[in-house]
Amino acid sequence: MKRDKEILLTGGLGFIGSHTAVALLEAGYMPVIADDLSNTRPEVLDGIEKITGVRPPFYPYDLRDAALVKDIFDRHPRLEGIIHFAASKYVNESVENPLKYYENNLCSLIHLLKEAVNRGTDKFIFSSSCTVYGLPDTLPVTEETPVKPAVSPYGNTKQIGEEILTDTAKVHDLKVILLRYFNPIGAHPSAEIGELPVGVPQNLVPFITQTAAGLHPELRIFGDDYDTPDGTAIRDYIHVMDLARAHVEALKYLEEGRNKDKVEIFNVGTGRGHSVMEIVRTFKEVTGAPLPYRIAGRREGDVPAIWADNTKIRREMGWEPRYTIADALRHAWAWEKKIRGLEE
Ligand code: WQD
Repeated sequence: MKRDKEILLTGGLGFIGSHTAVALLEAGYMPVIADDLSNTRPEVLDGIEKITGVRPPFYPYDLRDAALVKDIFDRHPRLEGIIHFAASKYVNESVENPLKYYENNLCSLIHLLKEAVNRGTDKFIFSSSCTVYGLPDTLPVTEETPVKPAVSPYGNTKQIGEEILTDTAKVHDLKVILLRYFNPIGAHPSAEIGELPVGVPQNLVPFITQTAAGLHPELRIFGDDYDTPDGTAIRDYIHVMDLARAHVEALKYLEEGRNKDKVEIFNVGTGRGHSVMEIVRTFKEVTGAPLPYRIAGRREGDVPAIWADNTKIRREMGWEPRYTIADALRHAWAWEKKIRGLEE
C-alpha cells in the first residue's frame, strides 16, 4: 500500500496517539510521529511496527522548542494535516505545577500553528476533553452544552487551546476539528500496544489491571455516596481503538470538504455511562481475575456523572463505537499481563 499522505502526529507514542498511528496506517496514511517521551517509552514504536509492518518516521522532540517544530516541517514539507495529542495530562499534577502545564500545552500548540499556517498545512485535529464541560447541568452532554470555568490548569489548557485554534482559523487558511474525548480505556486487541501509565496510575482502568496483576493490595473506589443508581460515579468509557478511528474519520471529513464551518466540535464517547462499580463487576466477569477493593472517600474534583450525546459524530461522520466495555477491559487485562510477563 502506498502511503503518500503524511500526517504529523504529536504525542504519537502516547496512549491515544499510538493507537491512532495504527488506525492511520491501516487507513493508508503515513503518520510522522513527534513525541518527547516524557510520558511513554520508545518501544511503543516497535509495537506499532509489529501490528502494521510499518515503522513510521519518529522524532524524539520537545515541541516547546520552536526550532525542533520547524525542523519537522523542513523534513516533511507536504504535511497533509496535524493531529495534536502532545500535552501534559494529569489533572492533579496540573494543580501543583500550573506553569509546566501552561508552558507545555500552550507553547507547543502555538509553535505548531505558526508552522502550519506558514507552510499551508490546513487540517488540524485537536485532542480536547469532556473536562471542558465541568459539572454539567444536564446529561448527556452535547456539543452545545456550555463550557464551564475549568477546575484545573489541565482543563484550562484544553479550553484555551480550543480558543487559540478558533481565533487562528478565523484569519488563516485552517480547518479545525475539536474532538472532546470522554474516558479512553483498553488496548489494541493484539496486546502489542496499550496504556503505559508513569508511576501509580491516576485513572481507573490501569489501576484496576495493575491491582489484578498484584502491583497494589486493593483498588480504592472514590465514593459510593453520589446521586447515581449504585452510588459510584459514572463516566463514558470508550475503547481507545474506537477513539483512534474517530481521528481518521475526522481527517477524511476535512479532506472531503464535508465540514460546514472552519472550526467544528465533536464529542467522542459511546453515548452510555457506566459506574465505577459496573466497571469493577464487568472486569471480574470477563477476566476472572481477583480484584480486591474497598470504598474510600470521594476524590477532589471528581464530577458525579458525565457521558456523551454522540449524535453529531454519528450523523456527520458516520462514526460509531464498535467495541463494548467488556472488550475494552479484556484488552486492557491482556495488555497488563503482557507487560508484566504474566501467564496467558
Ligand atoms: C474515573 C472514575 C474516579 C481511580 C480523567 C481526566 C480526563 C481524562 C480522563 C485526559 C472516577 C474513579 C479512579 C481509582 C476510582 N484525561 N476512580 N479509583 O477523572 O473521569 O477523567 O481521565 O483527558 O480529563 O480528568 O478518569 O479514570 O481518573 O476516574 O474510584 O483508583 O473512576 O473517582 O469516578 P476521570 P479516572
